[in-house]
Amino acid sequence: MKKSEAQNNLEKIVSLAKRRGFVFPSSEIYGGFPAVYDFGPYGVELANNIKKEWWRAMTQLRDDVVGLDSAIFMNPKIWEASGHVKGFSDPLTECRKCHSRLRLDALLEEAGIFADEKMTEDEINQIFEDNKQKIKCPSCGAQDFTPGKKFNLLVQSNLGNFTGDWSKEPTYLRGETCQGIYVNFKNVVDTARVKIPFGIAQIGKAFRNEITARQFVFRTREFEQMEMQYFVKPGDDMAYFEKWRETRFNFYLDLGIAPENLKWHKHENLVFYAQEAYDIEYNFPFGFKELEGVHARGNYDLTQHSKFSGQDLNYLDPNTNEKFIPHVVETSAGVGRTFLAVFCEAYQEEAVGEEMRTVLRLAPKLAPVKIAVFPLLKNKPELVAKAREIFDDLKKDWRSEFDDNGNIGKRYRRQDEIGTPYCLTVDFDTLENGEVTVRDRDTMKQERIKINDLRKFFQEKI
Ligand code: GAP
Repeated sequence: MKKSEAQNNLEKIVSLAKRRGFVFPSSEIYGGFPAVYDFGPYGVELANNIKKEWWRAMTQLRDDVVGLDSAIFMNPKIWEASGHVKGFSDPLTECRKCHSRLRLDALLEEAGIFADEKMTEDEINQIFEDNKQKIKCPSCGAQDFTPGKKFNLLVQSNLGNFTGDWSKEPTYLRGETCQGIYVNFKNVVDTARVKIPFGIAQIGKAFRNEITARQFVFRTREFEQMEMQYFVKPGDDMAYFEKWRETRFNFYLDLGIAPENLKWHKHENLVFYAQEAYDIEYNFPFGFKELEGVHARGNYDLTQHSKFSGQDLNYLDPNTNEKFIPHVVETSAGVGRTFLAVFCEAYQEEAVGEEMRTVLRLAPKLAPVKIAVFPLLKNKPELVAKAREIFDDLKKDWRSEFDDNGNIGKRYRRQDEIGTPYCLTVDFDTLENGEVTVRDRDTMKQERIKINDLRKFFQEKI
């Protein structure tokens, strides 16, 4: 289905996310903190449900992937070995008029000119020079910029090591979670009885000094990644790469994203060690942009860590006695971006009689609240007691919410806006015949269901 105008209106999406307690700007009472966001009460539930689905799909349902939770702080040598200290940078320019600091590759891209953050400073400045008349500052419209300069994205910290031989070097907050996977490869092989091909999955925070971080939670300076490195025998890369591409694309369909709002983007300008790199892009309100990367990375990372650590990271094949550094197929997704994608996808405005309603048609498994339980009237203790009894029972299995505030219509609207798939009302008939009204978020149809059948009903629906 084509996306509606409302779904493509980022302002409306941001406003609902704030108004209903999904996402708050960080440190708001102090005037905020750029490009950092907090997940509110419903946001944390949605983000947790996304992570739960990813973890289930990537570890629980597979017998070839194990989990890991490595630390955010790591020996700084890791970031040298990985190439981040030297090469993890974006080209930065500054508008000479309003002094906005901007990403040069993004400015060029917005003007329809191909550019890539992996280009050298000279390459990108040449393209910039050739197209100067087409580039305008998005803040003030001026066309006067400083030459592009590479700006390293690693976030430094002053965490102290007072004894190590690297004590003079800066320590970093990790720029990507997968380095924790590479440096634990040997530990996992030695302890987890895994055999190649196998994967290691991890969810965790990453930090980047993003130059321009606009577009809400799409690009932030602190964010969460869901990454999996799949270790294969050299030569088997492409077969597994194709399998993972299919698996990962289907994951987003399973979250309720329409296929026409997803597409593949093939990287043309590959880093020297990569064999193939594709991104899954989602049709965000600001256009198709990267949601997840699926990359065949060869043996670059393990080779680098082997060199820099002095440790043998070869794998010994128990069947053939062959020794080799495994190749890696990586799948790397962001929690914030998936959150924004499912939120935009679910956002709907529709006329109900004379009124408009906003509804989040989230897949029930992602919805922050699955069932809302209402007594018809707040001031009738027998209705409230029965509704509480049902709520106390259902909440053991499903995240439920009890609400006795305002008229039923208002309560429905509130639950529609947070994406609750089912609302259940206890009325006077309930006390007589043991039936409640269950209202479906999407169709708004109501049906009477026996209290004793509720568990079966929700088990089938959710
Ligand atoms: N290990 C590979 C890697 O980190 P990446 O393309 O830089 O690759 C992977 O990041 C994913 O992490 C992206 O597809 C995106 O979903 C998420 N991501 C990256 N930078 C982000 C940022 N600044 N804010 C939010 N999400 C980000």
